[in-house]
Amino acid sequence: MDQQIIYLDNAATTKVDEKVVKAMLPYFSEKYGNASSMHNFGRLAREAVDNSRKIIAKSLNANEEEIYFTSGGTESNNLALKGLFLANKSSGKNHIITTKIEHDCILQTCRWLEKQGAKITYIDVDKHGLVNPLDITKAITPNTLVVSIIQGNNEIGTLQDTAEIGRICKSKGVYFHIDACQSFTKSFIDVEKQNLDLVTINAHKIHGPKGVGALYVRKGVNIQAIQNGGGHEHGLRSGTENVPGIAGFGKAVEIADKKQLKNIEKLRDYLIKNILKIPRTRLNGASKERLCNNVNISFRDIEGEAIASHLENYGIIVSTGSACASHTLKKSHVLRAIGLNDLEINSSIRISLSKFTTKKEIDKLIRVLPSIVNTLRTMSPVANNQINRKGGKMTKIKDKFTEFAGSFKNEGEFEEELEEEGLDPEEVENKHFEEEN
Ligand SMILES: Cc1ncc(COP(=O)(O)O)c(C=O)c1O
Repeated sequence: MDQQIIYLDNAATTKVDEKVVKAMLPYFSEKYGNASSMHNFGRLAREAVDNSRKIIAKSLNANEEEIYFTSGGTESNNLALKGLFLANKSSGKNHIITTKIEHDCILQTCRWLEKQGAKITYIDVDKHGLVNPLDITKAITPNTLVVSIIQGNNEIGTLQDTAEIGRICKSKGVYFHIDACQSFTKSFIDVEKQNLDLVTINAHKIHGPKGVGALYVRKGVNIQAIQNGGGHEHGLRSGTENVPGIAGFGKAVEIADKKQLKNIEKLRDYLIKNILKIPRTRLNGASKERLCNNVNISFRDIEGEAIASHLENYGIIVSTGSACASHTLKKSHVLRAIGLNDLEINSSIRISLSKFTTKKEIDKLIRVLPSIVNTLRTMSPVANNQINRKGGKMTKIKDKFTEFAGSFKNEGEFEEELEEEGLDPEEVENKHFEEEN
């Protein structure tokens, strides 16, 4: 039976908007020239590339010649850090500051750069995933080349104070790069107001095509190409431009509508509020400084994978981690950095909304999730092992937990009930945590 899909994994990628598809189509089979060709046919392709460059530059408050098209966020992040490091190697500026919650393409680039002689400082974040700008100030040394920060985290949605970090970098004469793949068109980005020197963006997170992105590089920044070729993109990124992709990227930026963001945010908050009614759940990431479309929740005692696969039976698609890294099966370094233990990491799911998400879809998720959680908790080996070992008293607690999980009671009511049964809620919670750890 065909089932309507409810797609809630928009942090991994988004549906391409039909207007974007329409804007791309002519560049496949009608105006398919090479943007570097001198003839008129090539000029048509060049016009499309330049038009998108103009749209993207405007959206960042940048100049057209500061936008370099790439194959996506991964390439832009590689180009930013490797290009800066190689160009400035002889000056002795070999220190890079980043955070422990970056996307893997930044972290892996940093690991590679360490092998080339770079010194990397990985800044800690607090339990909400926030960087303390003071820690950046403290980490800057005379050899610091660049501070590279993810603006909106792809897993937990936490948004960093890029204006403040930009101010610090400018005052210390250090380049400032942000990875804005998740936040572009969703959060405020202004290269002047935030003192940004380099910005990574891509198209497939904003209803554009996959395989196309851009790097903003402020005029005067000392950076060099990391691949050799025909000198495209003012010599910084050789390779024939992906004209349909770039045309689609420009269109996706052009139609990104700020008014839709409020709507997405309202749905996000409605969803968070209702999921947190399920007992023993916690929101990961900051509640205020948060991407408008991100929800990340841990459900104690059960596996996020199991929840995701049960939801899929209802046609609801969510994720258990960053899709870009999930094939590696490694535990989320982001959830670890905000202090979650292995069990809590495994028990989390990420739900990410888009402009196409409807209230009806969210209501369906809210309807089916409590019983999925309840069923899984009843079967949970973690919960059951702990209960069996503790004997009579814990059996009572287990019964209470199970009953509670299906009841929509709030934590206060649950605690009262435990007290009535002669159980100390704090002791119960502590025991539960001890067992988990
Ligand atoms: C924050 C962030 N940076 C970089 C990337 C990589 O972008 P791309 O998929 O375009 O290579 C992603 C994609 O998931 C991302 O979320």
